[in-house]
Amino acid sequence: MTMKSSIVLGALVAAASATPTLRRRQYNTTKPVVTSEALQADISRENLLAGTQILEDFAYASPNRTRIIGSPGHNDTIYWLKEELEALDYYDVSLQNFFTVAMVSGQINTFVVNGVNTSADLLEYSASGTVTAPLVPVANLGCNATDYPAELAGKIALISRGSCDFGLKSVLAGNAGAAAAVIYNNAAGGFNGTLSAPPRPEGEYIASISITQELGTGYVEAITGGATINATVDVATVISNVSTYNVLATTKGGDQHNKLALGGHTDSVLAGPGINDDGSGTVGILEVAKALSKYEINNAVTFGFWAGEEEGLLGSTYYVENLPANETADIRAYLNFDMIASPNYVHAIYDGDGSAFNLTGPPGSAELESFLEDFFTSAGENFTATAFDGRSDYGPFLDVGIPSGGTFTGAEELKTEEEAEMFGGEAGVALDVCYHSACDNIDNLNLDAFELHGKAIASAVATYATSWEGFPARNTTVARRSIKPHARKASQPRHYRSKRSLPSRK
Ligand SMILES: *[C@@H]1O[C@H](CO)[C@@H](O)[C@H](O)[C@H]1NC(C)=O
Ligand SMILES: *[C@@H]1O[C@H](CO)[C@@H](O)[C@H](O)[C@H]1NC(C)=O
Ligand SMILES: *[C@@H]1O[C@H](CO)[C@@H](O)[C@H](O)[C@H]1NC(C)=O
Ligand SMILES: *[C@@H]1O[C@H](CO)[C@@H](O)[C@H](O)[C@H]1NC(C)=O
Ligand SMILES: *[C@@H]1O[C@H](CO)[C@@H](O)[C@H](O)[C@H]1NC(C)=O
Ligand SMILES: *[C@@H]1O[C@H](CO)[C@@H](O)[C@H](O)[C@H]1NC(C)=O
Ligand SMILES: *[C@@H]1O[C@H](CO)[C@@H](O)[C@H](O)[C@H]1NC(C)=O
Ligand SMILES: *[C@@H]1O[C@H](CO)[C@@H](O)[C@H](O)[C@H]1NC(C)=O
Ligand SMILES: *[C@@H]1O[C@H](CO)[C@@H](O)[C@H](O)[C@H]1NC(C)=O
Ligand SMILES: *[C@@H]1O[C@H](CO)[C@@H](O)[C@H](O)[C@H]1NC(C)=O
Ligand SMILES: *[C@@H]1O[C@H](CO)[C@@H](O)[C@H](O)[C@H]1NC(C)=O
Ligand SMILES: *[C@@H]1O[C@H](CO)[C@@H](O)[C@H](O)[C@H]1NC(C)=O
Ligand SMILES: [Zn+2]
Repeated sequence: MTMKSSIVLGALVAAASATPTLRRRQYNTTKPVVTSEALQADISRENLLAGTQILEDFAYASPNRTRIIGSPGHNDTIYWLKEELEALDYYDVSLQNFFTVAMVSGQINTFVVNGVNTSADLLEYSASGTVTAPLVPVANLGCNATDYPAELAGKIALISRGSCDFGLKSVLAGNAGAAAAVIYNNAAGGFNGTLSAPPRPEGEYIASISITQELGTGYVEAITGGATINATVDVATVISNVSTYNVLATTKGGDQHNKLALGGHTDSVLAGPGINDDGSGTVGILEVAKALSKYEINNAVTFGFWAGEEEGLLGSTYYVENLPANETADIRAYLNFDMIASPNYVHAIYDGDGSAFNLTGPPGSAELESFLEDFFTSAGENFTATAFDGRSDYGPFLDVGIPSGGTFTGAEELKTEEEAEMFGGEAGVALDVCYHSACDNIDNLNLDAFELHGKAIASAVATYATSWEGFPARNTTVARRSIKPHARKASQPRHYRSKRSLPSRK
């Protein structure tokens, strides 16, 4: 891709110096005015698939097969987007740099208890460490330094989940001299959790893993009964201060004071290549950006490709927090597209009017929802609502009072019978069985959903790039987190939570 772009640019420059008149005429050709029909017609499943294939290739080019921030696969994604957008000669393209601490790789090499390989999960941001020593139960819930006995030095702390952050437990165990921490669930089964990004004022994390309640209480019982339980914990993680980028592209043309912004995230989780989450949104938006460059527009459009969504909406937050007040006021609306090709999809729309989840966005959010509802209705498809709780990159926009909307095809939730009737697919199966997993690759995509949601993006961009007629003016004096509770309508069908459940911290 790098090579191809440079060759094209080189050819243009050569042609321009040889035949300046021809070049000027070519560039002055008036482009047709954008329409929803024309822009939708430019979105094809072949191009959507080809774009996501490139992202999968970026992930699979290195052994960890991921596009988590700081990985080669994520860097390649960023530079590819920048080149693709620059080649259109229609946008002001920039990279917006920011830093964050991230666990860029991590695994449990060994967890052996009394000689038996035992199942456990890595707690995010765990330190690396290898130790073979007895398990020592900690008093209470391990939220107080006094819960950690002196005999813990050099041993493995066995701690119940509950009451305080996993991160505090890991630090307190380390401060007491423990070489590793094993946190067992306080409900049936196991769990995945995060210690939260370091640093922590109380101290440093130690090697930390989670196990099921059944295993944990079993060990405590045996130890209380006088047994010694020896374990080996061997954990390897890489935690770095990552330098990463948002990719931003704003049309050179159009009214910059009445702008539409839209975005998706470029990063995946460590576990997989992130092709539905959110390669689908990334490529859907990119294809619309490419198509838009063939047309004239009235209102400017900013395309945002956010980094670090999976680490907690980092890129979109950084963007919004660093926008000058006058430019924040110039954004009339923001549209978010995070997972739009789920294999067992639903057509979900952010609940901007609060009718389904009792959370209403700033004025304009209801209009965005209604616009997208009309889109699916015109396409002859059913739609449902997804909670407007700020757990994807639209959250920071809501925080500063920018009306927001977008579509979503579903994550880990199981499809109900009713939803199977509305959308087809399989009831009782996750909407995306590969959510945050290694199998979220090109084979995980539903191309019917991908194409339809790609056209939904095109339709919204064409419409708002043409006119804001009938759309509420921005209220620039709204309070932060201007999302409002709203009475629930009586007769709503079941709706969806947003895609991203925050990682458990306690
Ligand atoms: C572009 O074309 C229009 C109409 O054909 C003409 O009026 C205008 O002067 C041209 N602009 C440039 C920079 O050539
Ligand atoms: C990714 O890009 C950042 C910023 O340029 C750089 O610091 C980092 O070393 C790159 N990582 C890889 C794995 O190439
Ligand atoms: C890939 O994962 C391994 C094992 O977890 C780790 O040692 C290595 O640093 C990772 N590579 C990159 C580029 O993050
Ligand atoms: C644990 O599993 C690893 C890899 O599967 C194996 O090499 C090792 O021998 C096993 N150890 C025990 C004690 O079962
Ligand atoms: C920790 O325990 C000590 C002694 O029981 C008590 O004085 C202190 O308040 C506790 N701290 C917290 C944070 O609960
Ligand atoms: C934790 O996450 C890993 C990787 O996504 C997964 O394989 C494992 O089953 C999860 N554990 C639990 C208890 O959900
Ligand atoms: C645990 O290890 C100690 C030595 O480190 C050993 O004496 C003891 O027998 C072991 N206990 C079990 C149950 O394996
Ligand atoms: C990460 O690196 C940047 C640039 O060097 C620095 O400004 C920032 O303080 C670092 N963050 C941490 C947590 O070390
Ligand atoms: C916002 O104001 C700054 C100066 O304060 C100016 O440079 C910038 O162009 C303005 N942005 C817009 C979109 O008007
Ligand atoms: C819409 O949902 C209804 C059931 O609520 C179903 O009968 C109908 O076939 C669905 N329409 C489409 C296009 O899937
Ligand atoms: C704008 O929002 C503020 C704070 O919510 C509210 O007090 C004010 O009435 C709103 N203005 C308009 C014109 O809606
Ligand atoms: C909606 O939220 C408001 C404020 O939190 C609450 O008073 C009201 O009872 C909620 N309505 C419903 C139907 O849940
Ligand atoms: Zn995700």
